[in-house]
Amino acid sequence: MKNFVFTCLAVCALSGQVIAQELTPISLRAPRTSGGTTILEAFLHRQSTRVYTPEMLSEQELSDLLWAANGINRPESQKRTAPSALNYQDVDIYVCLEKGAYRYDAIGNCLNPIVAEDLRPLVANGQDFVTSAPVVLVLTSDLSKMRGGDTESNRLIGAMDAGIVSENISIACAGLGLATVPRATMDKETLAQKLKLKSTQILLLNHPVGHK
Ligand SMILES: Cc1cc2nc3c(=O)[nH]c(=O)nc-3n(C[C@H](O)[C@H](O)[C@H](O)COP(=O)(O)O)c2cc1C
Repeated sequence: MKNFVFTCLAVCALSGQVIAQELTPISLRAPRTSGGTTILEAFLHRQSTRVYTPEMLSEQELSDLLWAANGINRPESQKRTAPSALNYQDVDIYVCLEKGAYRYDAIGNCLNPIVAEDLRPLVANGQDFVTSAPVVLVLTSDLSKMRGGDTESNRLIGAMDAGIVSENISIACAGLGLATVPRATMDKETLAQKLKLKSTQILLLNHPVGHK
């Protein structure tokens, strides 16, 4: 009997742990389409910042930032705030939080869970300040969305498309009073596995984001 009770308690504890480790999708707020500084003030304040307070972004800030980065701004055509070559829409944004990593779904305006693990140290890859950012955005390009697939010129196009999303992030942060830095450094091999990337998705840039 004692053994039975112990086994039951162990199973409960274990299943509780499993549940705690599970991530659920996060619905984002409707993005604001006004607010922040003027566009010229945002350019005035754009800079790389590598020190952040531990304060999490508010739900509204995260939603506004992702929408500005690469959200849908013309629902009728599902086109984005960032242009992409031939409208390939090849860039995906992964959102790394302490509790786990998610993929931004621009159409659903939500974050879909990928893994319940803090991947920020893999993004940091030696630059420890990255792990102090409450949000780390990772940009990939999916070459399978391009005519011709994995070619040198499509890799270049992917890098350009991700660069434009990156600049949207930098300007949005400047305009919203947030701090960020564009980075190419990251442990790409391990991140590709942990983020469950397709073989056609290439890791290009990342952005730690926090408050100043
Ligand atoms: C493509 C690219 C890759 C970068 N990679 C890193 C990086 O890995 N780590 C880092 O600390 N900064 C990185 N930076 C930020 C630059 O160091 C920074 O933009 C530059 O020093 C100019 O400073 P500013 O952004 O404040 O004007 C990168 C910038 C770009 C555009």
